[in-house]
Amino acid sequence: MTGQPENRTTEDAAAGGTGRDGAGAPAAGPPYFPEWPRVASAFAADPRVEERVEGILAQMTLEEKLGQMIQPELAELTLEDAREYKIGSALNGAGIWPGGNRHADVKEWVETVDAFWEAVEEGYAERPFRVPFMWATDAVHGHNNVYGATIFPHNIGLGAARDPGLVRRIGEATAREIAATGMDWTFAPTVATPRDRRWGRYYEGYSEDPEVVYAYAREMVSGLQGGTDGLATDAHVISTIKHWVADGATFEGVDRGTARCEEDVLRNIHAMGFISAIEAGAQAVMASFSGWSGPANYDHTPGRPVAYNHKICGSRYLLTDVLKGAMGFDGIVISDWDAHAEVAGCTVGDAGYAINAGLDVLMVAGREAWRSVWRNAREQVLSGVIPMERVDDAVRRVLRVKMRAGLWDKPRPRERSLAGEASVLGHHDHRALAREAVRKSLVLLKNAGGTLPLSPASRVLVAGSAADDIRKQAGGWTLSWQGNEVTLSDLPGATTLAAAVASVTGEDRCQVDPYLEHADPAAFDVAVVAIGEDSYAEMRGTIKPWGTLEYARLKQSYARDLATLRRLREAGVRVVTVMFTGRPLYVTEEINLSDAFVVAWLPGTEGVGITDVLFAGPDGAPAHDFQGRLTFSWPRRKRSMSVNRVPPHIPGYRVPAEELSPEGEHEPLFPYGFGLSLRDTGTAADPGELPLDQEPPPPPAPPAAGPLEVAGARAGGAYRLRIGGHNTWSREDISFDRPTETLVVRAEPVPGPGGTSAVSLRFMGYVAFVYAQDPEQRPRDLRGYREAGGRIAFDVRVDEAPDLPVYLGCHDDYPAQPGLDLAPSLRALPAGTWTTLEVPLTDLERAGVDLRHVDVPFMLYTEGRTLLSIGEVRWLTD
Ligand code: BGC
Repeated sequence: MTGQPENRTTEDAAAGGTGRDGAGAPAAGPPYFPEWPRVASAFAADPRVEERVEGILAQMTLEEKLGQMIQPELAELTLEDAREYKIGSALNGAGIWPGGNRHADVKEWVETVDAFWEAVEEGYAERPFRVPFMWATDAVHGHNNVYGATIFPHNIGLGAARDPGLVRRIGEATAREIAATGMDWTFAPTVATPRDRRWGRYYEGYSEDPEVVYAYAREMVSGLQGGTDGLATDAHVISTIKHWVADGATFEGVDRGTARCEEDVLRNIHAMGFISAIEAGAQAVMASFSGWSGPANYDHTPGRPVAYNHKICGSRYLLTDVLKGAMGFDGIVISDWDAHAEVAGCTVGDAGYAINAGLDVLMVAGREAWRSVWRNAREQVLSGVIPMERVDDAVRRVLRVKMRAGLWDKPRPRERSLAGEASVLGHHDHRALAREAVRKSLVLLKNAGGTLPLSPASRVLVAGSAADDIRKQAGGWTLSWQGNEVTLSDLPGATTLAAAVASVTGEDRCQVDPYLEHADPAAFDVAVVAIGEDSYAEMRGTIKPWGTLEYARLKQSYARDLATLRRLREAGVRVVTVMFTGRPLYVTEEINLSDAFVVAWLPGTEGVGITDVLFAGPDGAPAHDFQGRLTFSWPRRKRSMSVNRVPPHIPGYRVPAEELSPEGEHEPLFPYGFGLSLRDTGTAADPGELPLDQEPPPPPAPPAAGPLEVAGARAGGAYRLRIGGHNTWSREDISFDRPTETLVVRAEPVPGPGGTSAVSLRFMGYVAFVYAQDPEQRPRDLRGYREAGGRIAFDVRVDEAPDLPVYLGCHDDYPAQPGLDLAPSLRALPAGTWTTLEVPLTDLERAGVDLRHVDVPFMLYTEGRTLLSIGEVRWLTD
């Protein structure tokens, strides 16, 4: 435990002396904190605010207090609920819009927020005081869940721009757009310091090193909140720094996993963004889904073993002792979406333990769940399990923040000055700012022979899977959660890279042909090849612990990009590769095949920001130079999952074993800070042929041991049959006793062939997959089955033939990873009759399925509609 009063303050640190070399000289970069610092917030405690807060708190009933502590989601909250429970705040989740309308305009948003605000006011009608309601959203790269908003680059790109002032201006613009929809609060910025490239949220962080995170966090918060004077105005919103703490440090990059690090690293790498942001006055902190395994993370239930609860949302040490106590944070600590349910001792409907740990507001999605959390908390307060002081602490914080945000003085949402102003959303100044951000975020890794800038008079072939794909360009959290369903019609004014190139060269000198199916490369001066990851968010973008960073092996469509580059090299065309990505990946061969290589991260809708730099001006002179510099080390090896810059501000920092590549190396291909400018020439701009990572051949496969029973009586429950889909938050286990209903699949037990048990599966036309998984998710090396002539055999009955491809694969990842389309075979089967289909493992392997690490020996994936029944599933050998 820290001795609070004597703590070094952040002001001491700013005054110089990091303790690094004992010399006390001011050091560049972030300060070093040997213990948790007392953080002096820009919002100094104001006795008038405190007095008003206490005055209201003293009049509130327990029920009214609990209303402030629950935050339901738009789809799970009625106006009656808001009135009855006097709900303190609500959020809209990603991909949730008023009336389910993705294109809801500012007016519809304002009306929605305003109606809830009014309902809560009605709840207080008979009371001598009122507590205004507030609305929260995830505006993480612009006001990204709202149609027509400006979409800025994701944080990974902003980090590369190394421009804190730019980030502040983006915060200001985003705040105005949020205010235009009548909302008060954003769940941004993410101030994670991602250390493992497998993590699906890597791109939400500014940098792998706290240097940039520390500098940016305060600026983004200042921009969003407008400083102490701005927050109560109509043009600013409450900002949330997330996810406290070390969400980017989880072991093997597992989303919602556990950080294994010393407290010194927790503080000086992972908490640094929080420290500067709290200093700038951040009013909310979101507690992470993830956990920390440090010994100080004790459990506070008497009689429980130490560290029984390692999840942050259950950590009294990190929430109460450190954040509120030692650091002196006096704003709201809100839990992530249903994250209390992951805390030992809690369930989705009971958050008592987590409340006692220090959560002030519980973001609880489901209607049953939030009402149950409310009911249980009430009982727990009445029975003394939750002390009343704890509730008062929580509500005091909520009231304080609402007061600082001027909510008692602001008119109802629809009467605020920016509310309903359609012109604010996607305002041309904001789009110009986004374009500037794109321009500044581009990192040039190679420019052999002065390939760039291109002449605007060039004939350009635009190829690659990402050439004309706004989803790859904008990434997750774009008008939806995963960002995968959006089209250009959802993002008015958006420009893909292909469109941006055409706008420079003219349509007649530009041809778009992603996979070179039509164009003759020889007819062009240069090929601009856009490659990159498909969009994803959170765990759906996480690479398995045993996975690879090798771009061409992550998905079949990515492998086609490599093939395209090879063909262009053969054709002798000059190639400029532009990569959209949420993380540095192993692309050494792709770099070798390119004359120039640009990393564009996830730039968003302003594709023209890229061509601003790729092309010279009309006079042939560069119009803009590249100024982006890596804030993430670029991997040399296919499994350099976690090779990060050694943080220079931490004395005696020792690189942990998991930050070495499997070869024991700690050497990136391009280091943190790397980035060429157009002025660089010679070997600086052309590294020549970079050595490829030759992975040692895999160890011999263990032989197949008899048939592998996957589903059916003989499997004896070794694998669970589950439903997954991008709209279902958690994966659902299929029951063999009763129907299992999800949005995407309806499963029902049916008799199988010969008296076996089976299950009918109605796929409803959404992204959906049904899969059998080892409950512990232990991967097994099953190549031995392939060597023994193996095949996957399963009983199937087609009741309604599929309208779209149905892939057979061996994974539970979303979006679809490699698989083999079975739709033609399924359509060919006689309807309503049981058949056993056998699919050779060699076919699956040819389709890219990795047989070396199988925890899901069977998966069917479709985005279409079909009714299939599945009986026994087994892997057979000859
Ligand atoms: C994410 C948070 C987000 C919340 C609300 C969660 O899944 O982890 O970052 O703020 O959803 O949408």
